[in-house]
Amino acid sequence: MNRRRFLTVIAASGSGLLLSACDDIPASAVAPWQGPPVDERDIRVRALAWALLAPNPHNLQPWLADVRVADTITLSLDPQWSLPGTDPYGRQILIGCGGFVELLRMAAAQEGYAAQIAWFPEGVFGERLDTRPFARITLVRAPSVPPDPLFAYVRKRRTNRAPYEARAVDAAAQRRITVAIDTPGVRTTFSADAAQTQRISALAADGYRVEWDTPSAFADSARVIRLGADAIAAEPSGIAMHGTAIWWGLRFGMVGPEDVADSRSSGAQQGLARVIAAVEATPLWVWQTTADDSRAAQIAAGRAYRRLDLAAAAAGVAIHPNSQTLQEFPEMQPLYAEMHRALGVSPPQRVQMLARLGYAPPAGPAPRRPVQKLLRS
Ligand SMILES: Cc1cc2nc3c(=O)[nH]c(=O)nc-3n(C[C@H](O)[C@H](O)[C@H](O)COP(=O)(O)O)c2cc1C
Repeated sequence: MNRRRFLTVIAASGSGLLLSACDDIPASAVAPWQGPPVDERDIRVRALAWALLAPNPHNLQPWLADVRVADTITLSLDPQWSLPGTDPYGRQILIGCGGFVELLRMAAAQEGYAAQIAWFPEGVFGERLDTRPFARITLVRAPSVPPDPLFAYVRKRRTNRAPYEARAVDAAAQRRITVAIDTPGVRTTFSADAAQTQRISALAADGYRVEWDTPSAFADSARVIRLGADAIAAEPSGIAMHGTAIWWGLRFGMVGPEDVADSRSSGAQQGLARVIAAVEATPLWVWQTTADDSRAAQIAAGRAYRRLDLAAAAAGVAIHPNSQTLQEFPEMQPLYAEMHRALGVSPPQRVQMLARLGYAPPAGPAPRRPVQKLLRS
């Protein structure tokens, strides 16, 4: 079999530009899903060990946690992790930060601590993210702080990129999700209307096509692909591709990083076809809108998405963000405007998150770095 044919086989086998659910992901890369190390006594580190399970764009996990001051966690961004092509202003990265802090707050509450959060304690980011802290958090013993029922689903939740079943999402499940996600400053809207969902799916599919056709945007994904179990174990972040076909391909030199970096390769094109097929199999779309696009709004959207994602897990509903048409790079602007029109959102309001909802077989866990990698102590 030649290299080209081999890449086609990989793509057809489900190991293309999607996370594979094969069971050969290294145990060390998914160990953080067990929660904090059992002998960890510092509540801050325990809460951080849960927080790092938050959904975050391209699974970069760009967070650093300074724990040198007693009872305090100062959170900042590691500049080595960024998405210059698809997230030029760091909006999506900041949404991930909002989700991280929301989860940290829940984890602390679970152990009877209140999280006092100061956002942007050394000033709000401008057009670009920088190394100043995005939050400083003090954990205070507060036995009366109520635990959050959504915390029970932290280990269960996943981003599920599969095509969803044709059946509608149960109305009771949708109500349950709506009640659980109430977050100030963020409006959450659902649509199962046939004409509107078809329109959203078509635009979302075009969004993928533009991302594939724009080298700087595609490079954001290609750069963080971890090809095979060894690469995932060495750096448990980014887009993990693994499974039997990849294993054989790597062993026999039939596939390598240069293949996944080329959006025109047969593997990448099959991957594109598969994400589009998944998008078209979407019974319910959900989007989260803020009044403007301030940094505070982006943080709020991250907290709201964190709740939406957990509430979906609680209701047994799969979820998958589709961010392409919400991105700011110039080639995406026509679709950005069209998607906002299709969702009935006009400036200065802005859609921060757009996601598919439906039913699908469970997805496997995505890799995470161990909590020690975050700490600056
Ligand atoms: C702001 C934001 C945007 C995201 N956009 C996408 C997206 O467009 N496509 C996608 O497949 N996943 C998207 N995700 C999900 C992440 O890729 C996912 O959270 C990460 O890979 C970790 O996997 P997990 O959620 O299963 O733990 C997004 C997540 C966030 C927070």
